[in-house]
Amino acid sequence: MIPTITWEGNHIRLVDQRRLPLETRWVVCRGLNEVIDAIKDMAIRGAPAIGVAAAMGLALGAQSIEAQEYETFRDKFLQMTRDMESARPTAVNIRWAVERMKEIVDEMRDRGVDEIKEALKRASQDILERDIEINRRIGEHGLPLIPDRATILTHCNAGSLATGGYGTALGVIRAAHEAGKDIHVVVDETRPLLQGMRLTAFELMEEGIPTTVIVDSAAGYLMRRGKVDLVIIGADRIAANGDTANKVGSYQLAVLAKENRIPFYVAAPLSTFDLTLQEGDQIPIEERDPKEVTSFAGQQLGPEGLAAFNPAFDITPAAYISAVITEKATFWKEHTAYGRKLRPAGQVFSLEAPHDCQVDKGSNDKAGNSTSDLKIPAKPEHQCPHHPADKSRQVDSTRIPVGALRKQLISREPPPLGDKVVHKHNPEQGTEDEADDL
Ligand code: MRU
Repeated sequence: MIPTITWEGNHIRLVDQRRLPLETRWVVCRGLNEVIDAIKDMAIRGAPAIGVAAAMGLALGAQSIEAQEYETFRDKFLQMTRDMESARPTAVNIRWAVERMKEIVDEMRDRGVDEIKEALKRASQDILERDIEINRRIGEHGLPLIPDRATILTHCNAGSLATGGYGTALGVIRAAHEAGKDIHVVVDETRPLLQGMRLTAFELMEEGIPTTVIVDSAAGYLMRRGKVDLVIIGADRIAANGDTANKVGSYQLAVLAKENRIPFYVAAPLSTFDLTLQEGDQIPIEERDPKEVTSFAGQQLGPEGLAAFNPAFDITPAAYISAVITEKATFWKEHTAYGRKLRPAGQVFSLEAPHDCQVDKGSNDKAGNSTSDLKIPAKPEHQCPHHPADKSRQVDSTRIPVGALRKQLISREPPPLGDKVVHKHNPEQGTEDEADDL
């Protein structure tokens, strides 16, 4: 795997994703503005990867601040964070990284400026390493959801290149392949910049995973013909009610998946949740240069003067998402079939089980939290049409304490979330309640 981004001596080096897979070129950034430009121009892209780049860019920028007094250093650093935050608006990861770096500067107010600069540099490298570890955990949690001989549809690139390494959606696919599952991946080409065909197909083929590219508009045809067993995508931001922003085209895939009774999974780290936003429509959607649509590789394709609209992302409402796979647990949609209603906006983790796949044994929270108001009645076992004889697909329901979950997230003032139910589905690792870990 080509490393997405590395810190080398006095500069940052990132692989130019606009040129892959035909050319492997490196972009060398020696200052903050070069990193911001690399993010804006999508030399580096993918939500977690731009989070890492933001952290490294700020650490790099901090090195160039000449002031030795703390207050002057801090003022200059805060200006840098404002410039960085405006680089790309949809992915929450830039803001997450900025907050983390600001926190370090605030916590070290009694230390010398040189020491702070060193700490920022170390922290940005830790963010990179931690991201890879988180993705491996996402892969482990997602593994039980991938049946042997599955055909999996994915969109855009949520792989090693979009992250510090390993990938989120592709991390789950990679984990299934590493576990010896015989899988086939159908990749949407992902217009207009073709991240699916150029980057995802490239990563999968490097791993020796059977891969077929389709034009984005062929997905419905394949699903209707029963050629797709599940869809898995990454996420740029997930609002408090579970609505998810991801590469434009994700929403239509989710609607098609629901219509064709195919599980639709989102794989993302917990840091992708933005609990300051109640619902998806509050997520800012980046609009990019119309020329990305009307031209390709600098070559104009449409008639001169053609207008184009180029939203880079869309919102998939939580109702279309079967489950969100994170590094801590898999969060299932609440199962309406058992008489439960979807909860109002602001209550994320009442997500519903996918179609009929869930068998809930009604276990209680072992973390010492009262669950009496949320006790889930034992439900009859039944067979899932997608995975008929697979007993390992049994699920425990657990509850994650809200306060503990919040600690994982960057939100300073989260909205009231109420009670949450987590339906954990991780039979290969037993059914132990992980609430404590959160
Ligand atoms: O515009 P991009 O290429 O940055 O969009 C990337 C995506 O939409 C990814 O699916 C998302 O960032 C998740 S990456 C793990």
